[in-house]
Amino acid sequence: MSSDLQELKQFLRETSGLTLDANKAYLIESRLSPLMRRAGIANLSELLKSIKSGKDASLKQNVIDAMMTNETFFFRDRAPFDNFRNAILPKLMEARQEERRIRIWCAAASTGQEPYSLAMILDEEMKKLAGWNIEILATDLSSTAIATARAGRYTQFEVQRGLPITHLLRYFRNEADSWRINEYLRARIQFEEFNLLSDFRDFGQFDIIFCRNVLIYFDVETKKDILHRLGGALAKDGFLTMGSAETVVGLSEKLMPHPSLRLTSVHRPEPIVQTPKPPISLTVQSRPLIPVLPREASSAIPIENPVTVVSSMVPKSCRLFG
Ligand SMILES: C[S@@+](CC[C@H](N)C(=O)[O-])C[C@H]1O[C@@H](n2cnc3c(N)ncnc32)[C@H](O)[C@@H]1O
Repeated sequence: MSSDLQELKQFLRETSGLTLDANKAYLIESRLSPLMRRAGIANLSELLKSIKSGKDASLKQNVIDAMMTNETFFFRDRAPFDNFRNAILPKLMEARQEERRIRIWCAAASTGQEPYSLAMILDEEMKKLAGWNIEILATDLSSTAIATARAGRYTQFEVQRGLPITHLLRYFRNEADSWRINEYLRARIQFEEFNLLSDFRDFGQFDIIFCRNVLIYFDVETKKDILHRLGGALAKDGFLTMGSAETVVGLSEKLMPHPSLRLTSVHRPEPIVQTPKPPISLTVQSRPLIPVLPREASSAIPIENPVTVVSSMVPKSCRLFG
């Protein structure tokens, strides 16, 4: 591999976490050639010089954006969204009866299909959620992806991927050759550019984090670091949903697969504490009663919640209800 290619790989790893194999030179070329042509840059060496000079402030971000894989679609993989509606939301509504507030973070939201899918579910569950304050923060490293998400404008092809026709008719309006998501759904999500390599403690604590199909691009150490910090940003009874090819196993001691939702890669920071069954008494002829403790009672080890709750930085305008 040429030294320029090595340097570019290093730049991408440091700025975005993206880890490219040695055999990914073709990917770099196919993603960066159009950008280099437009900027009149002849080769990789010139590109690196331009980035380092800092003369073109947007060049660095454009290179990172071009290298990102923004693949996403509405209700992607279906099961995580069914779990959200049927398992996670009811559990949290029960646990948050007092404060009636739920905070959700889509941590690699790409062009917005994932947070809008969640917002559509919440809208459908509106009757149950009357009086609740539900916040959705959607972030992504890519500025172009976040701009698309914020605009909520999608092509015919994009709305045909995963979105039921009923939802298209209910939540979108046709604008020339595109479909635009309704203003009221757009206003319920706060979109921000944000790099997962950065410190996110200021975001406060979340009840639900969707961090799907992004850690697969990172090396083990980066995955461990991000999972460790995501564990800290999650309420102790909260839920982390990852992509179907992603796991916390072997990467985090703070997070563990949810016992019943593990097939869709849902994780939580605390083990489910099983209520110990009453001791079973055995009478052995004339000997005294021997109490037998069930096994699971000793396997539930409570984990200390490592993060203090920081007040929400999300403005009222992005609250879904209440
Ligand atoms: C394949 S998309 C996944 C989108 C969505 N979560 C889904 O599963 O459909 C991965 C996204 O991660 C974003 N990304 C990559 N590195 C990131 C980082 N360091 N911080 C935040 N987002 C990042 C990319 O810009 C891209 O939009």
